[in-house]
Amino acid sequence: AASPFILKPTPPELFRDFKTNAEMLWSSVDRAGYRTPQSRLFVRNHTRTPQVDASTYALRLFGDGLATPRGEADALSLSLADLKRLPRHEHTAVLECTGNGRSFFTTQQQQSVSGTAWTLGAVGTVRWTGVRLRDVLASVGLAPDAVSIQATGLDDPYVSGGVDYGRVRRPFPVAKALDDAILAWGMNGEDLLPDHGYPLRLVLPGWVGIASIKWLGSLEVSRTELTSPWNTTFYRMTGPDWPADSPPLTVNPVRSAWELAAGAQLPARPVTLTGRSWSGAGRITRVSVSLDGGESWRPAVLDRRSREDAGWTRWSVRWGNPRRGRHELLARATDDRGRTQPLVAAYNTQGYFFDAVVRHPVTVV
Ligand code: MTE
Repeated sequence: AASPFILKPTPPELFRDFKTNAEMLWSSVDRAGYRTPQSRLFVRNHTRTPQVDASTYALRLFGDGLATPRGEADALSLSLADLKRLPRHEHTAVLECTGNGRSFFTTQQQQSVSGTAWTLGAVGTVRWTGVRLRDVLASVGLAPDAVSIQATGLDDPYVSGGVDYGRVRRPFPVAKALDDAILAWGMNGEDLLPDHGYPLRLVLPGWVGIASIKWLGSLEVSRTELTSPWNTTFYRMTGPDWPADSPPLTVNPVRSAWELAAGAQLPARPVTLTGRSWSGAGRITRVSVSLDGGESWRPAVLDRRSREDAGWTRWSVRWGNPRRGRHELLARATDDRGRTQPLVAAYNTQGYFFDAVVRHPVTVV
């Protein structure tokens, strides 16, 4: 039965269900396809998917960072039709939850963390359609000394452990807005599904998923730094190894996944195994794989041709003579900034950024 918190069907052969969240199963990925269809993309909701009426929808803009400052009460209002008059922009990027891979802190590193126990399926690659935020800001007028923009969603306020944190919202620097931020109404050529932010969401390519606020209600543009619990309490590294003032997380790390179920059974004959690697900061330049639990490594063959913009990189490796028994597959990627996946992820109590090489068990029968 469908969860009341997520509106699209999340059948168990495609998704692992966490009630308000749903994880894409890597075993169900269409190996021939590059982009993640909306129907298969993970869902991460703090509360539940709201139903927003696109015909009356308006994005509200206010703050002292606008060229003509405006209070919240007399915010500028932009309809979808207003936004669609600006130059249309398309861009393919990875969307990934900060906590993707979190469960491996527990199962691989024996550390305890809080939060949704994702394996590696809180990620997808999609082609966004919308407008550049910089064009929107130019059309309404941006103050030259504006520094910070707070994006707020229209979903219910988030209440956890008896604390009401208010609406889901997170500030980001004006520099990111002027660089590659998108206000998107479409994904892979379709309107957004309600679960993915219909009718409009913010997209900050390469950044932690929380930065891409769904059901975007307002943008507050400010001449001073804005904050919210989503950059002070959540989505920061916390715990004994981290300073009390560790910065908000922004750019996603390098990660890899095999297009196989954990514990998959493979026949004892030559096989080509496939996977994908991605980085929030750049292109994947190298993927090393091990088919023997990390004793020996070889390069995977990268498929650079199918890569779009800032999407992921597909790769494959030929396993010539799989011997019967249990094996561990490992994949370790490097991006063009020289960032390589570590063997151990940096522990933090909220389980963010598990970027270590994952030990993927398979059995040859
Ligand atoms: N925006 C709003 N308004 N409310 C949310 O709960 N979740 C964030 C982000 N934007 C969220 C949100 C998180 S944590 C992630 S990882 C992405 O949306 C997930 O996007 P998706 O559900 O479209 O995959």
